[in-house]
Amino acid sequence: MTRRILRAAGCALAALLLHSAAPQAQHELTGGTQWGPLVQEASRALALTGDPRAGKARYGVCAACHRPTAWGDPAGTLPQLAGQHATVLIKQIADMRASQRDNPAMYPFAILIEGPQELADLAAYIGTLPMNPMNPQGPGTDVGYGKALFEDTCARCHGPSGEGSLAAAIPLIGGQTYAYIVRQLKEIRDGKRRNANPDMVKQVIGFSDRDFLAVADYVSRLRTPSHGRNLEQLSK
Ligand code: HEC
Ligand code: HEC
Repeated sequence: MTRRILRAAGCALAALLLHSAAPQAQHELTGGTQWGPLVQEASRALALTGDPRAGKARYGVCAACHRPTAWGDPAGTLPQLAGQHATVLIKQIADMRASQRDNPAMYPFAILIEGPQELADLAAYIGTLPMNPMNPQGPGTDVGYGKALFEDTCARCHGPSGEGSLAAAIPLIGGQTYAYIVRQLKEIRDGKRRNANPDMVKQVIGFSDRDFLAVADYVSRLRTPSHGRNLEQLSK
């Protein structure tokens, strides 16, 4: 009996360890995502090991906008970067540098990044930061409807808690800033994000305002394993 419990605990621990060793899975992506090729710089950065200390030194310029915590701003102009998968961080920045995602505010800074190693370093440093445990959420008035919509249309890609996928470069969206989620959903619908997933565009193209607000509110309230990560950093 005890042995069986121990064995079960061992399996759980192994699963946890596998989970925390997940960055290795980045390499699966080097050829491209399920919905299109990656820009070459992203493929190169994903094949490298990032150095969080070098990334920390480089993050100073990013902190001016994204904040030292990488929590972004409540108005949702700036996304929370903390908790985001390294593959997503690298893909998004490389897409901006290759002008496949417009970001006029950040572009002048994005092009100062020296290349794939610096991208990998930045992603490694951001990966050490805990997520905002009190992220700005929606008004909470239509969450039941948002939940049903999420489970019907979003969970198959973003996961049941909005955790996304490191291996497939699908963004973590659970616990992201409410206003940022609303804005991105509309920009993805309107084709403003040229790097969007075409299947996702099909999902949101017929959304009403109620749909956008309710689903974003629900997503902003989700909690993923990333929320529990690096928590000790918060007390420092
Ligand atoms: C001048 C302000 C500014 C600076 C400096 C800046 N950013 Fe940004 N960044 C933004 C804005 C604004 C957005 C949101 C763009 C949008 O709404 O599509 C953004 C978006 C991002 C995203 C996409 C996140 C997502 O969830 O898709 C990443 C990753 C990112 N920034 C990383 C960085 C890093 C790393 C640095 C430092 C090298 C940096 N940013 C510097 C303004 C800035
Ligand atoms: C077919 C898979 C798929 C479906 C369905 C889907 N998404 Fe996405 N979503 C993605 C991918 C992939 C990206 C990132 C695309 C890229 O690389 O720019 C994304 C990006 C996003 C972003 C931007 C994240 C960021 O950090 O900038 C948000 C917000 C989002 N999705 C929310 C949703 C919601 C809410 C739904 C349901 C209404 C949904 N998605 C349905 C695959 C999907």
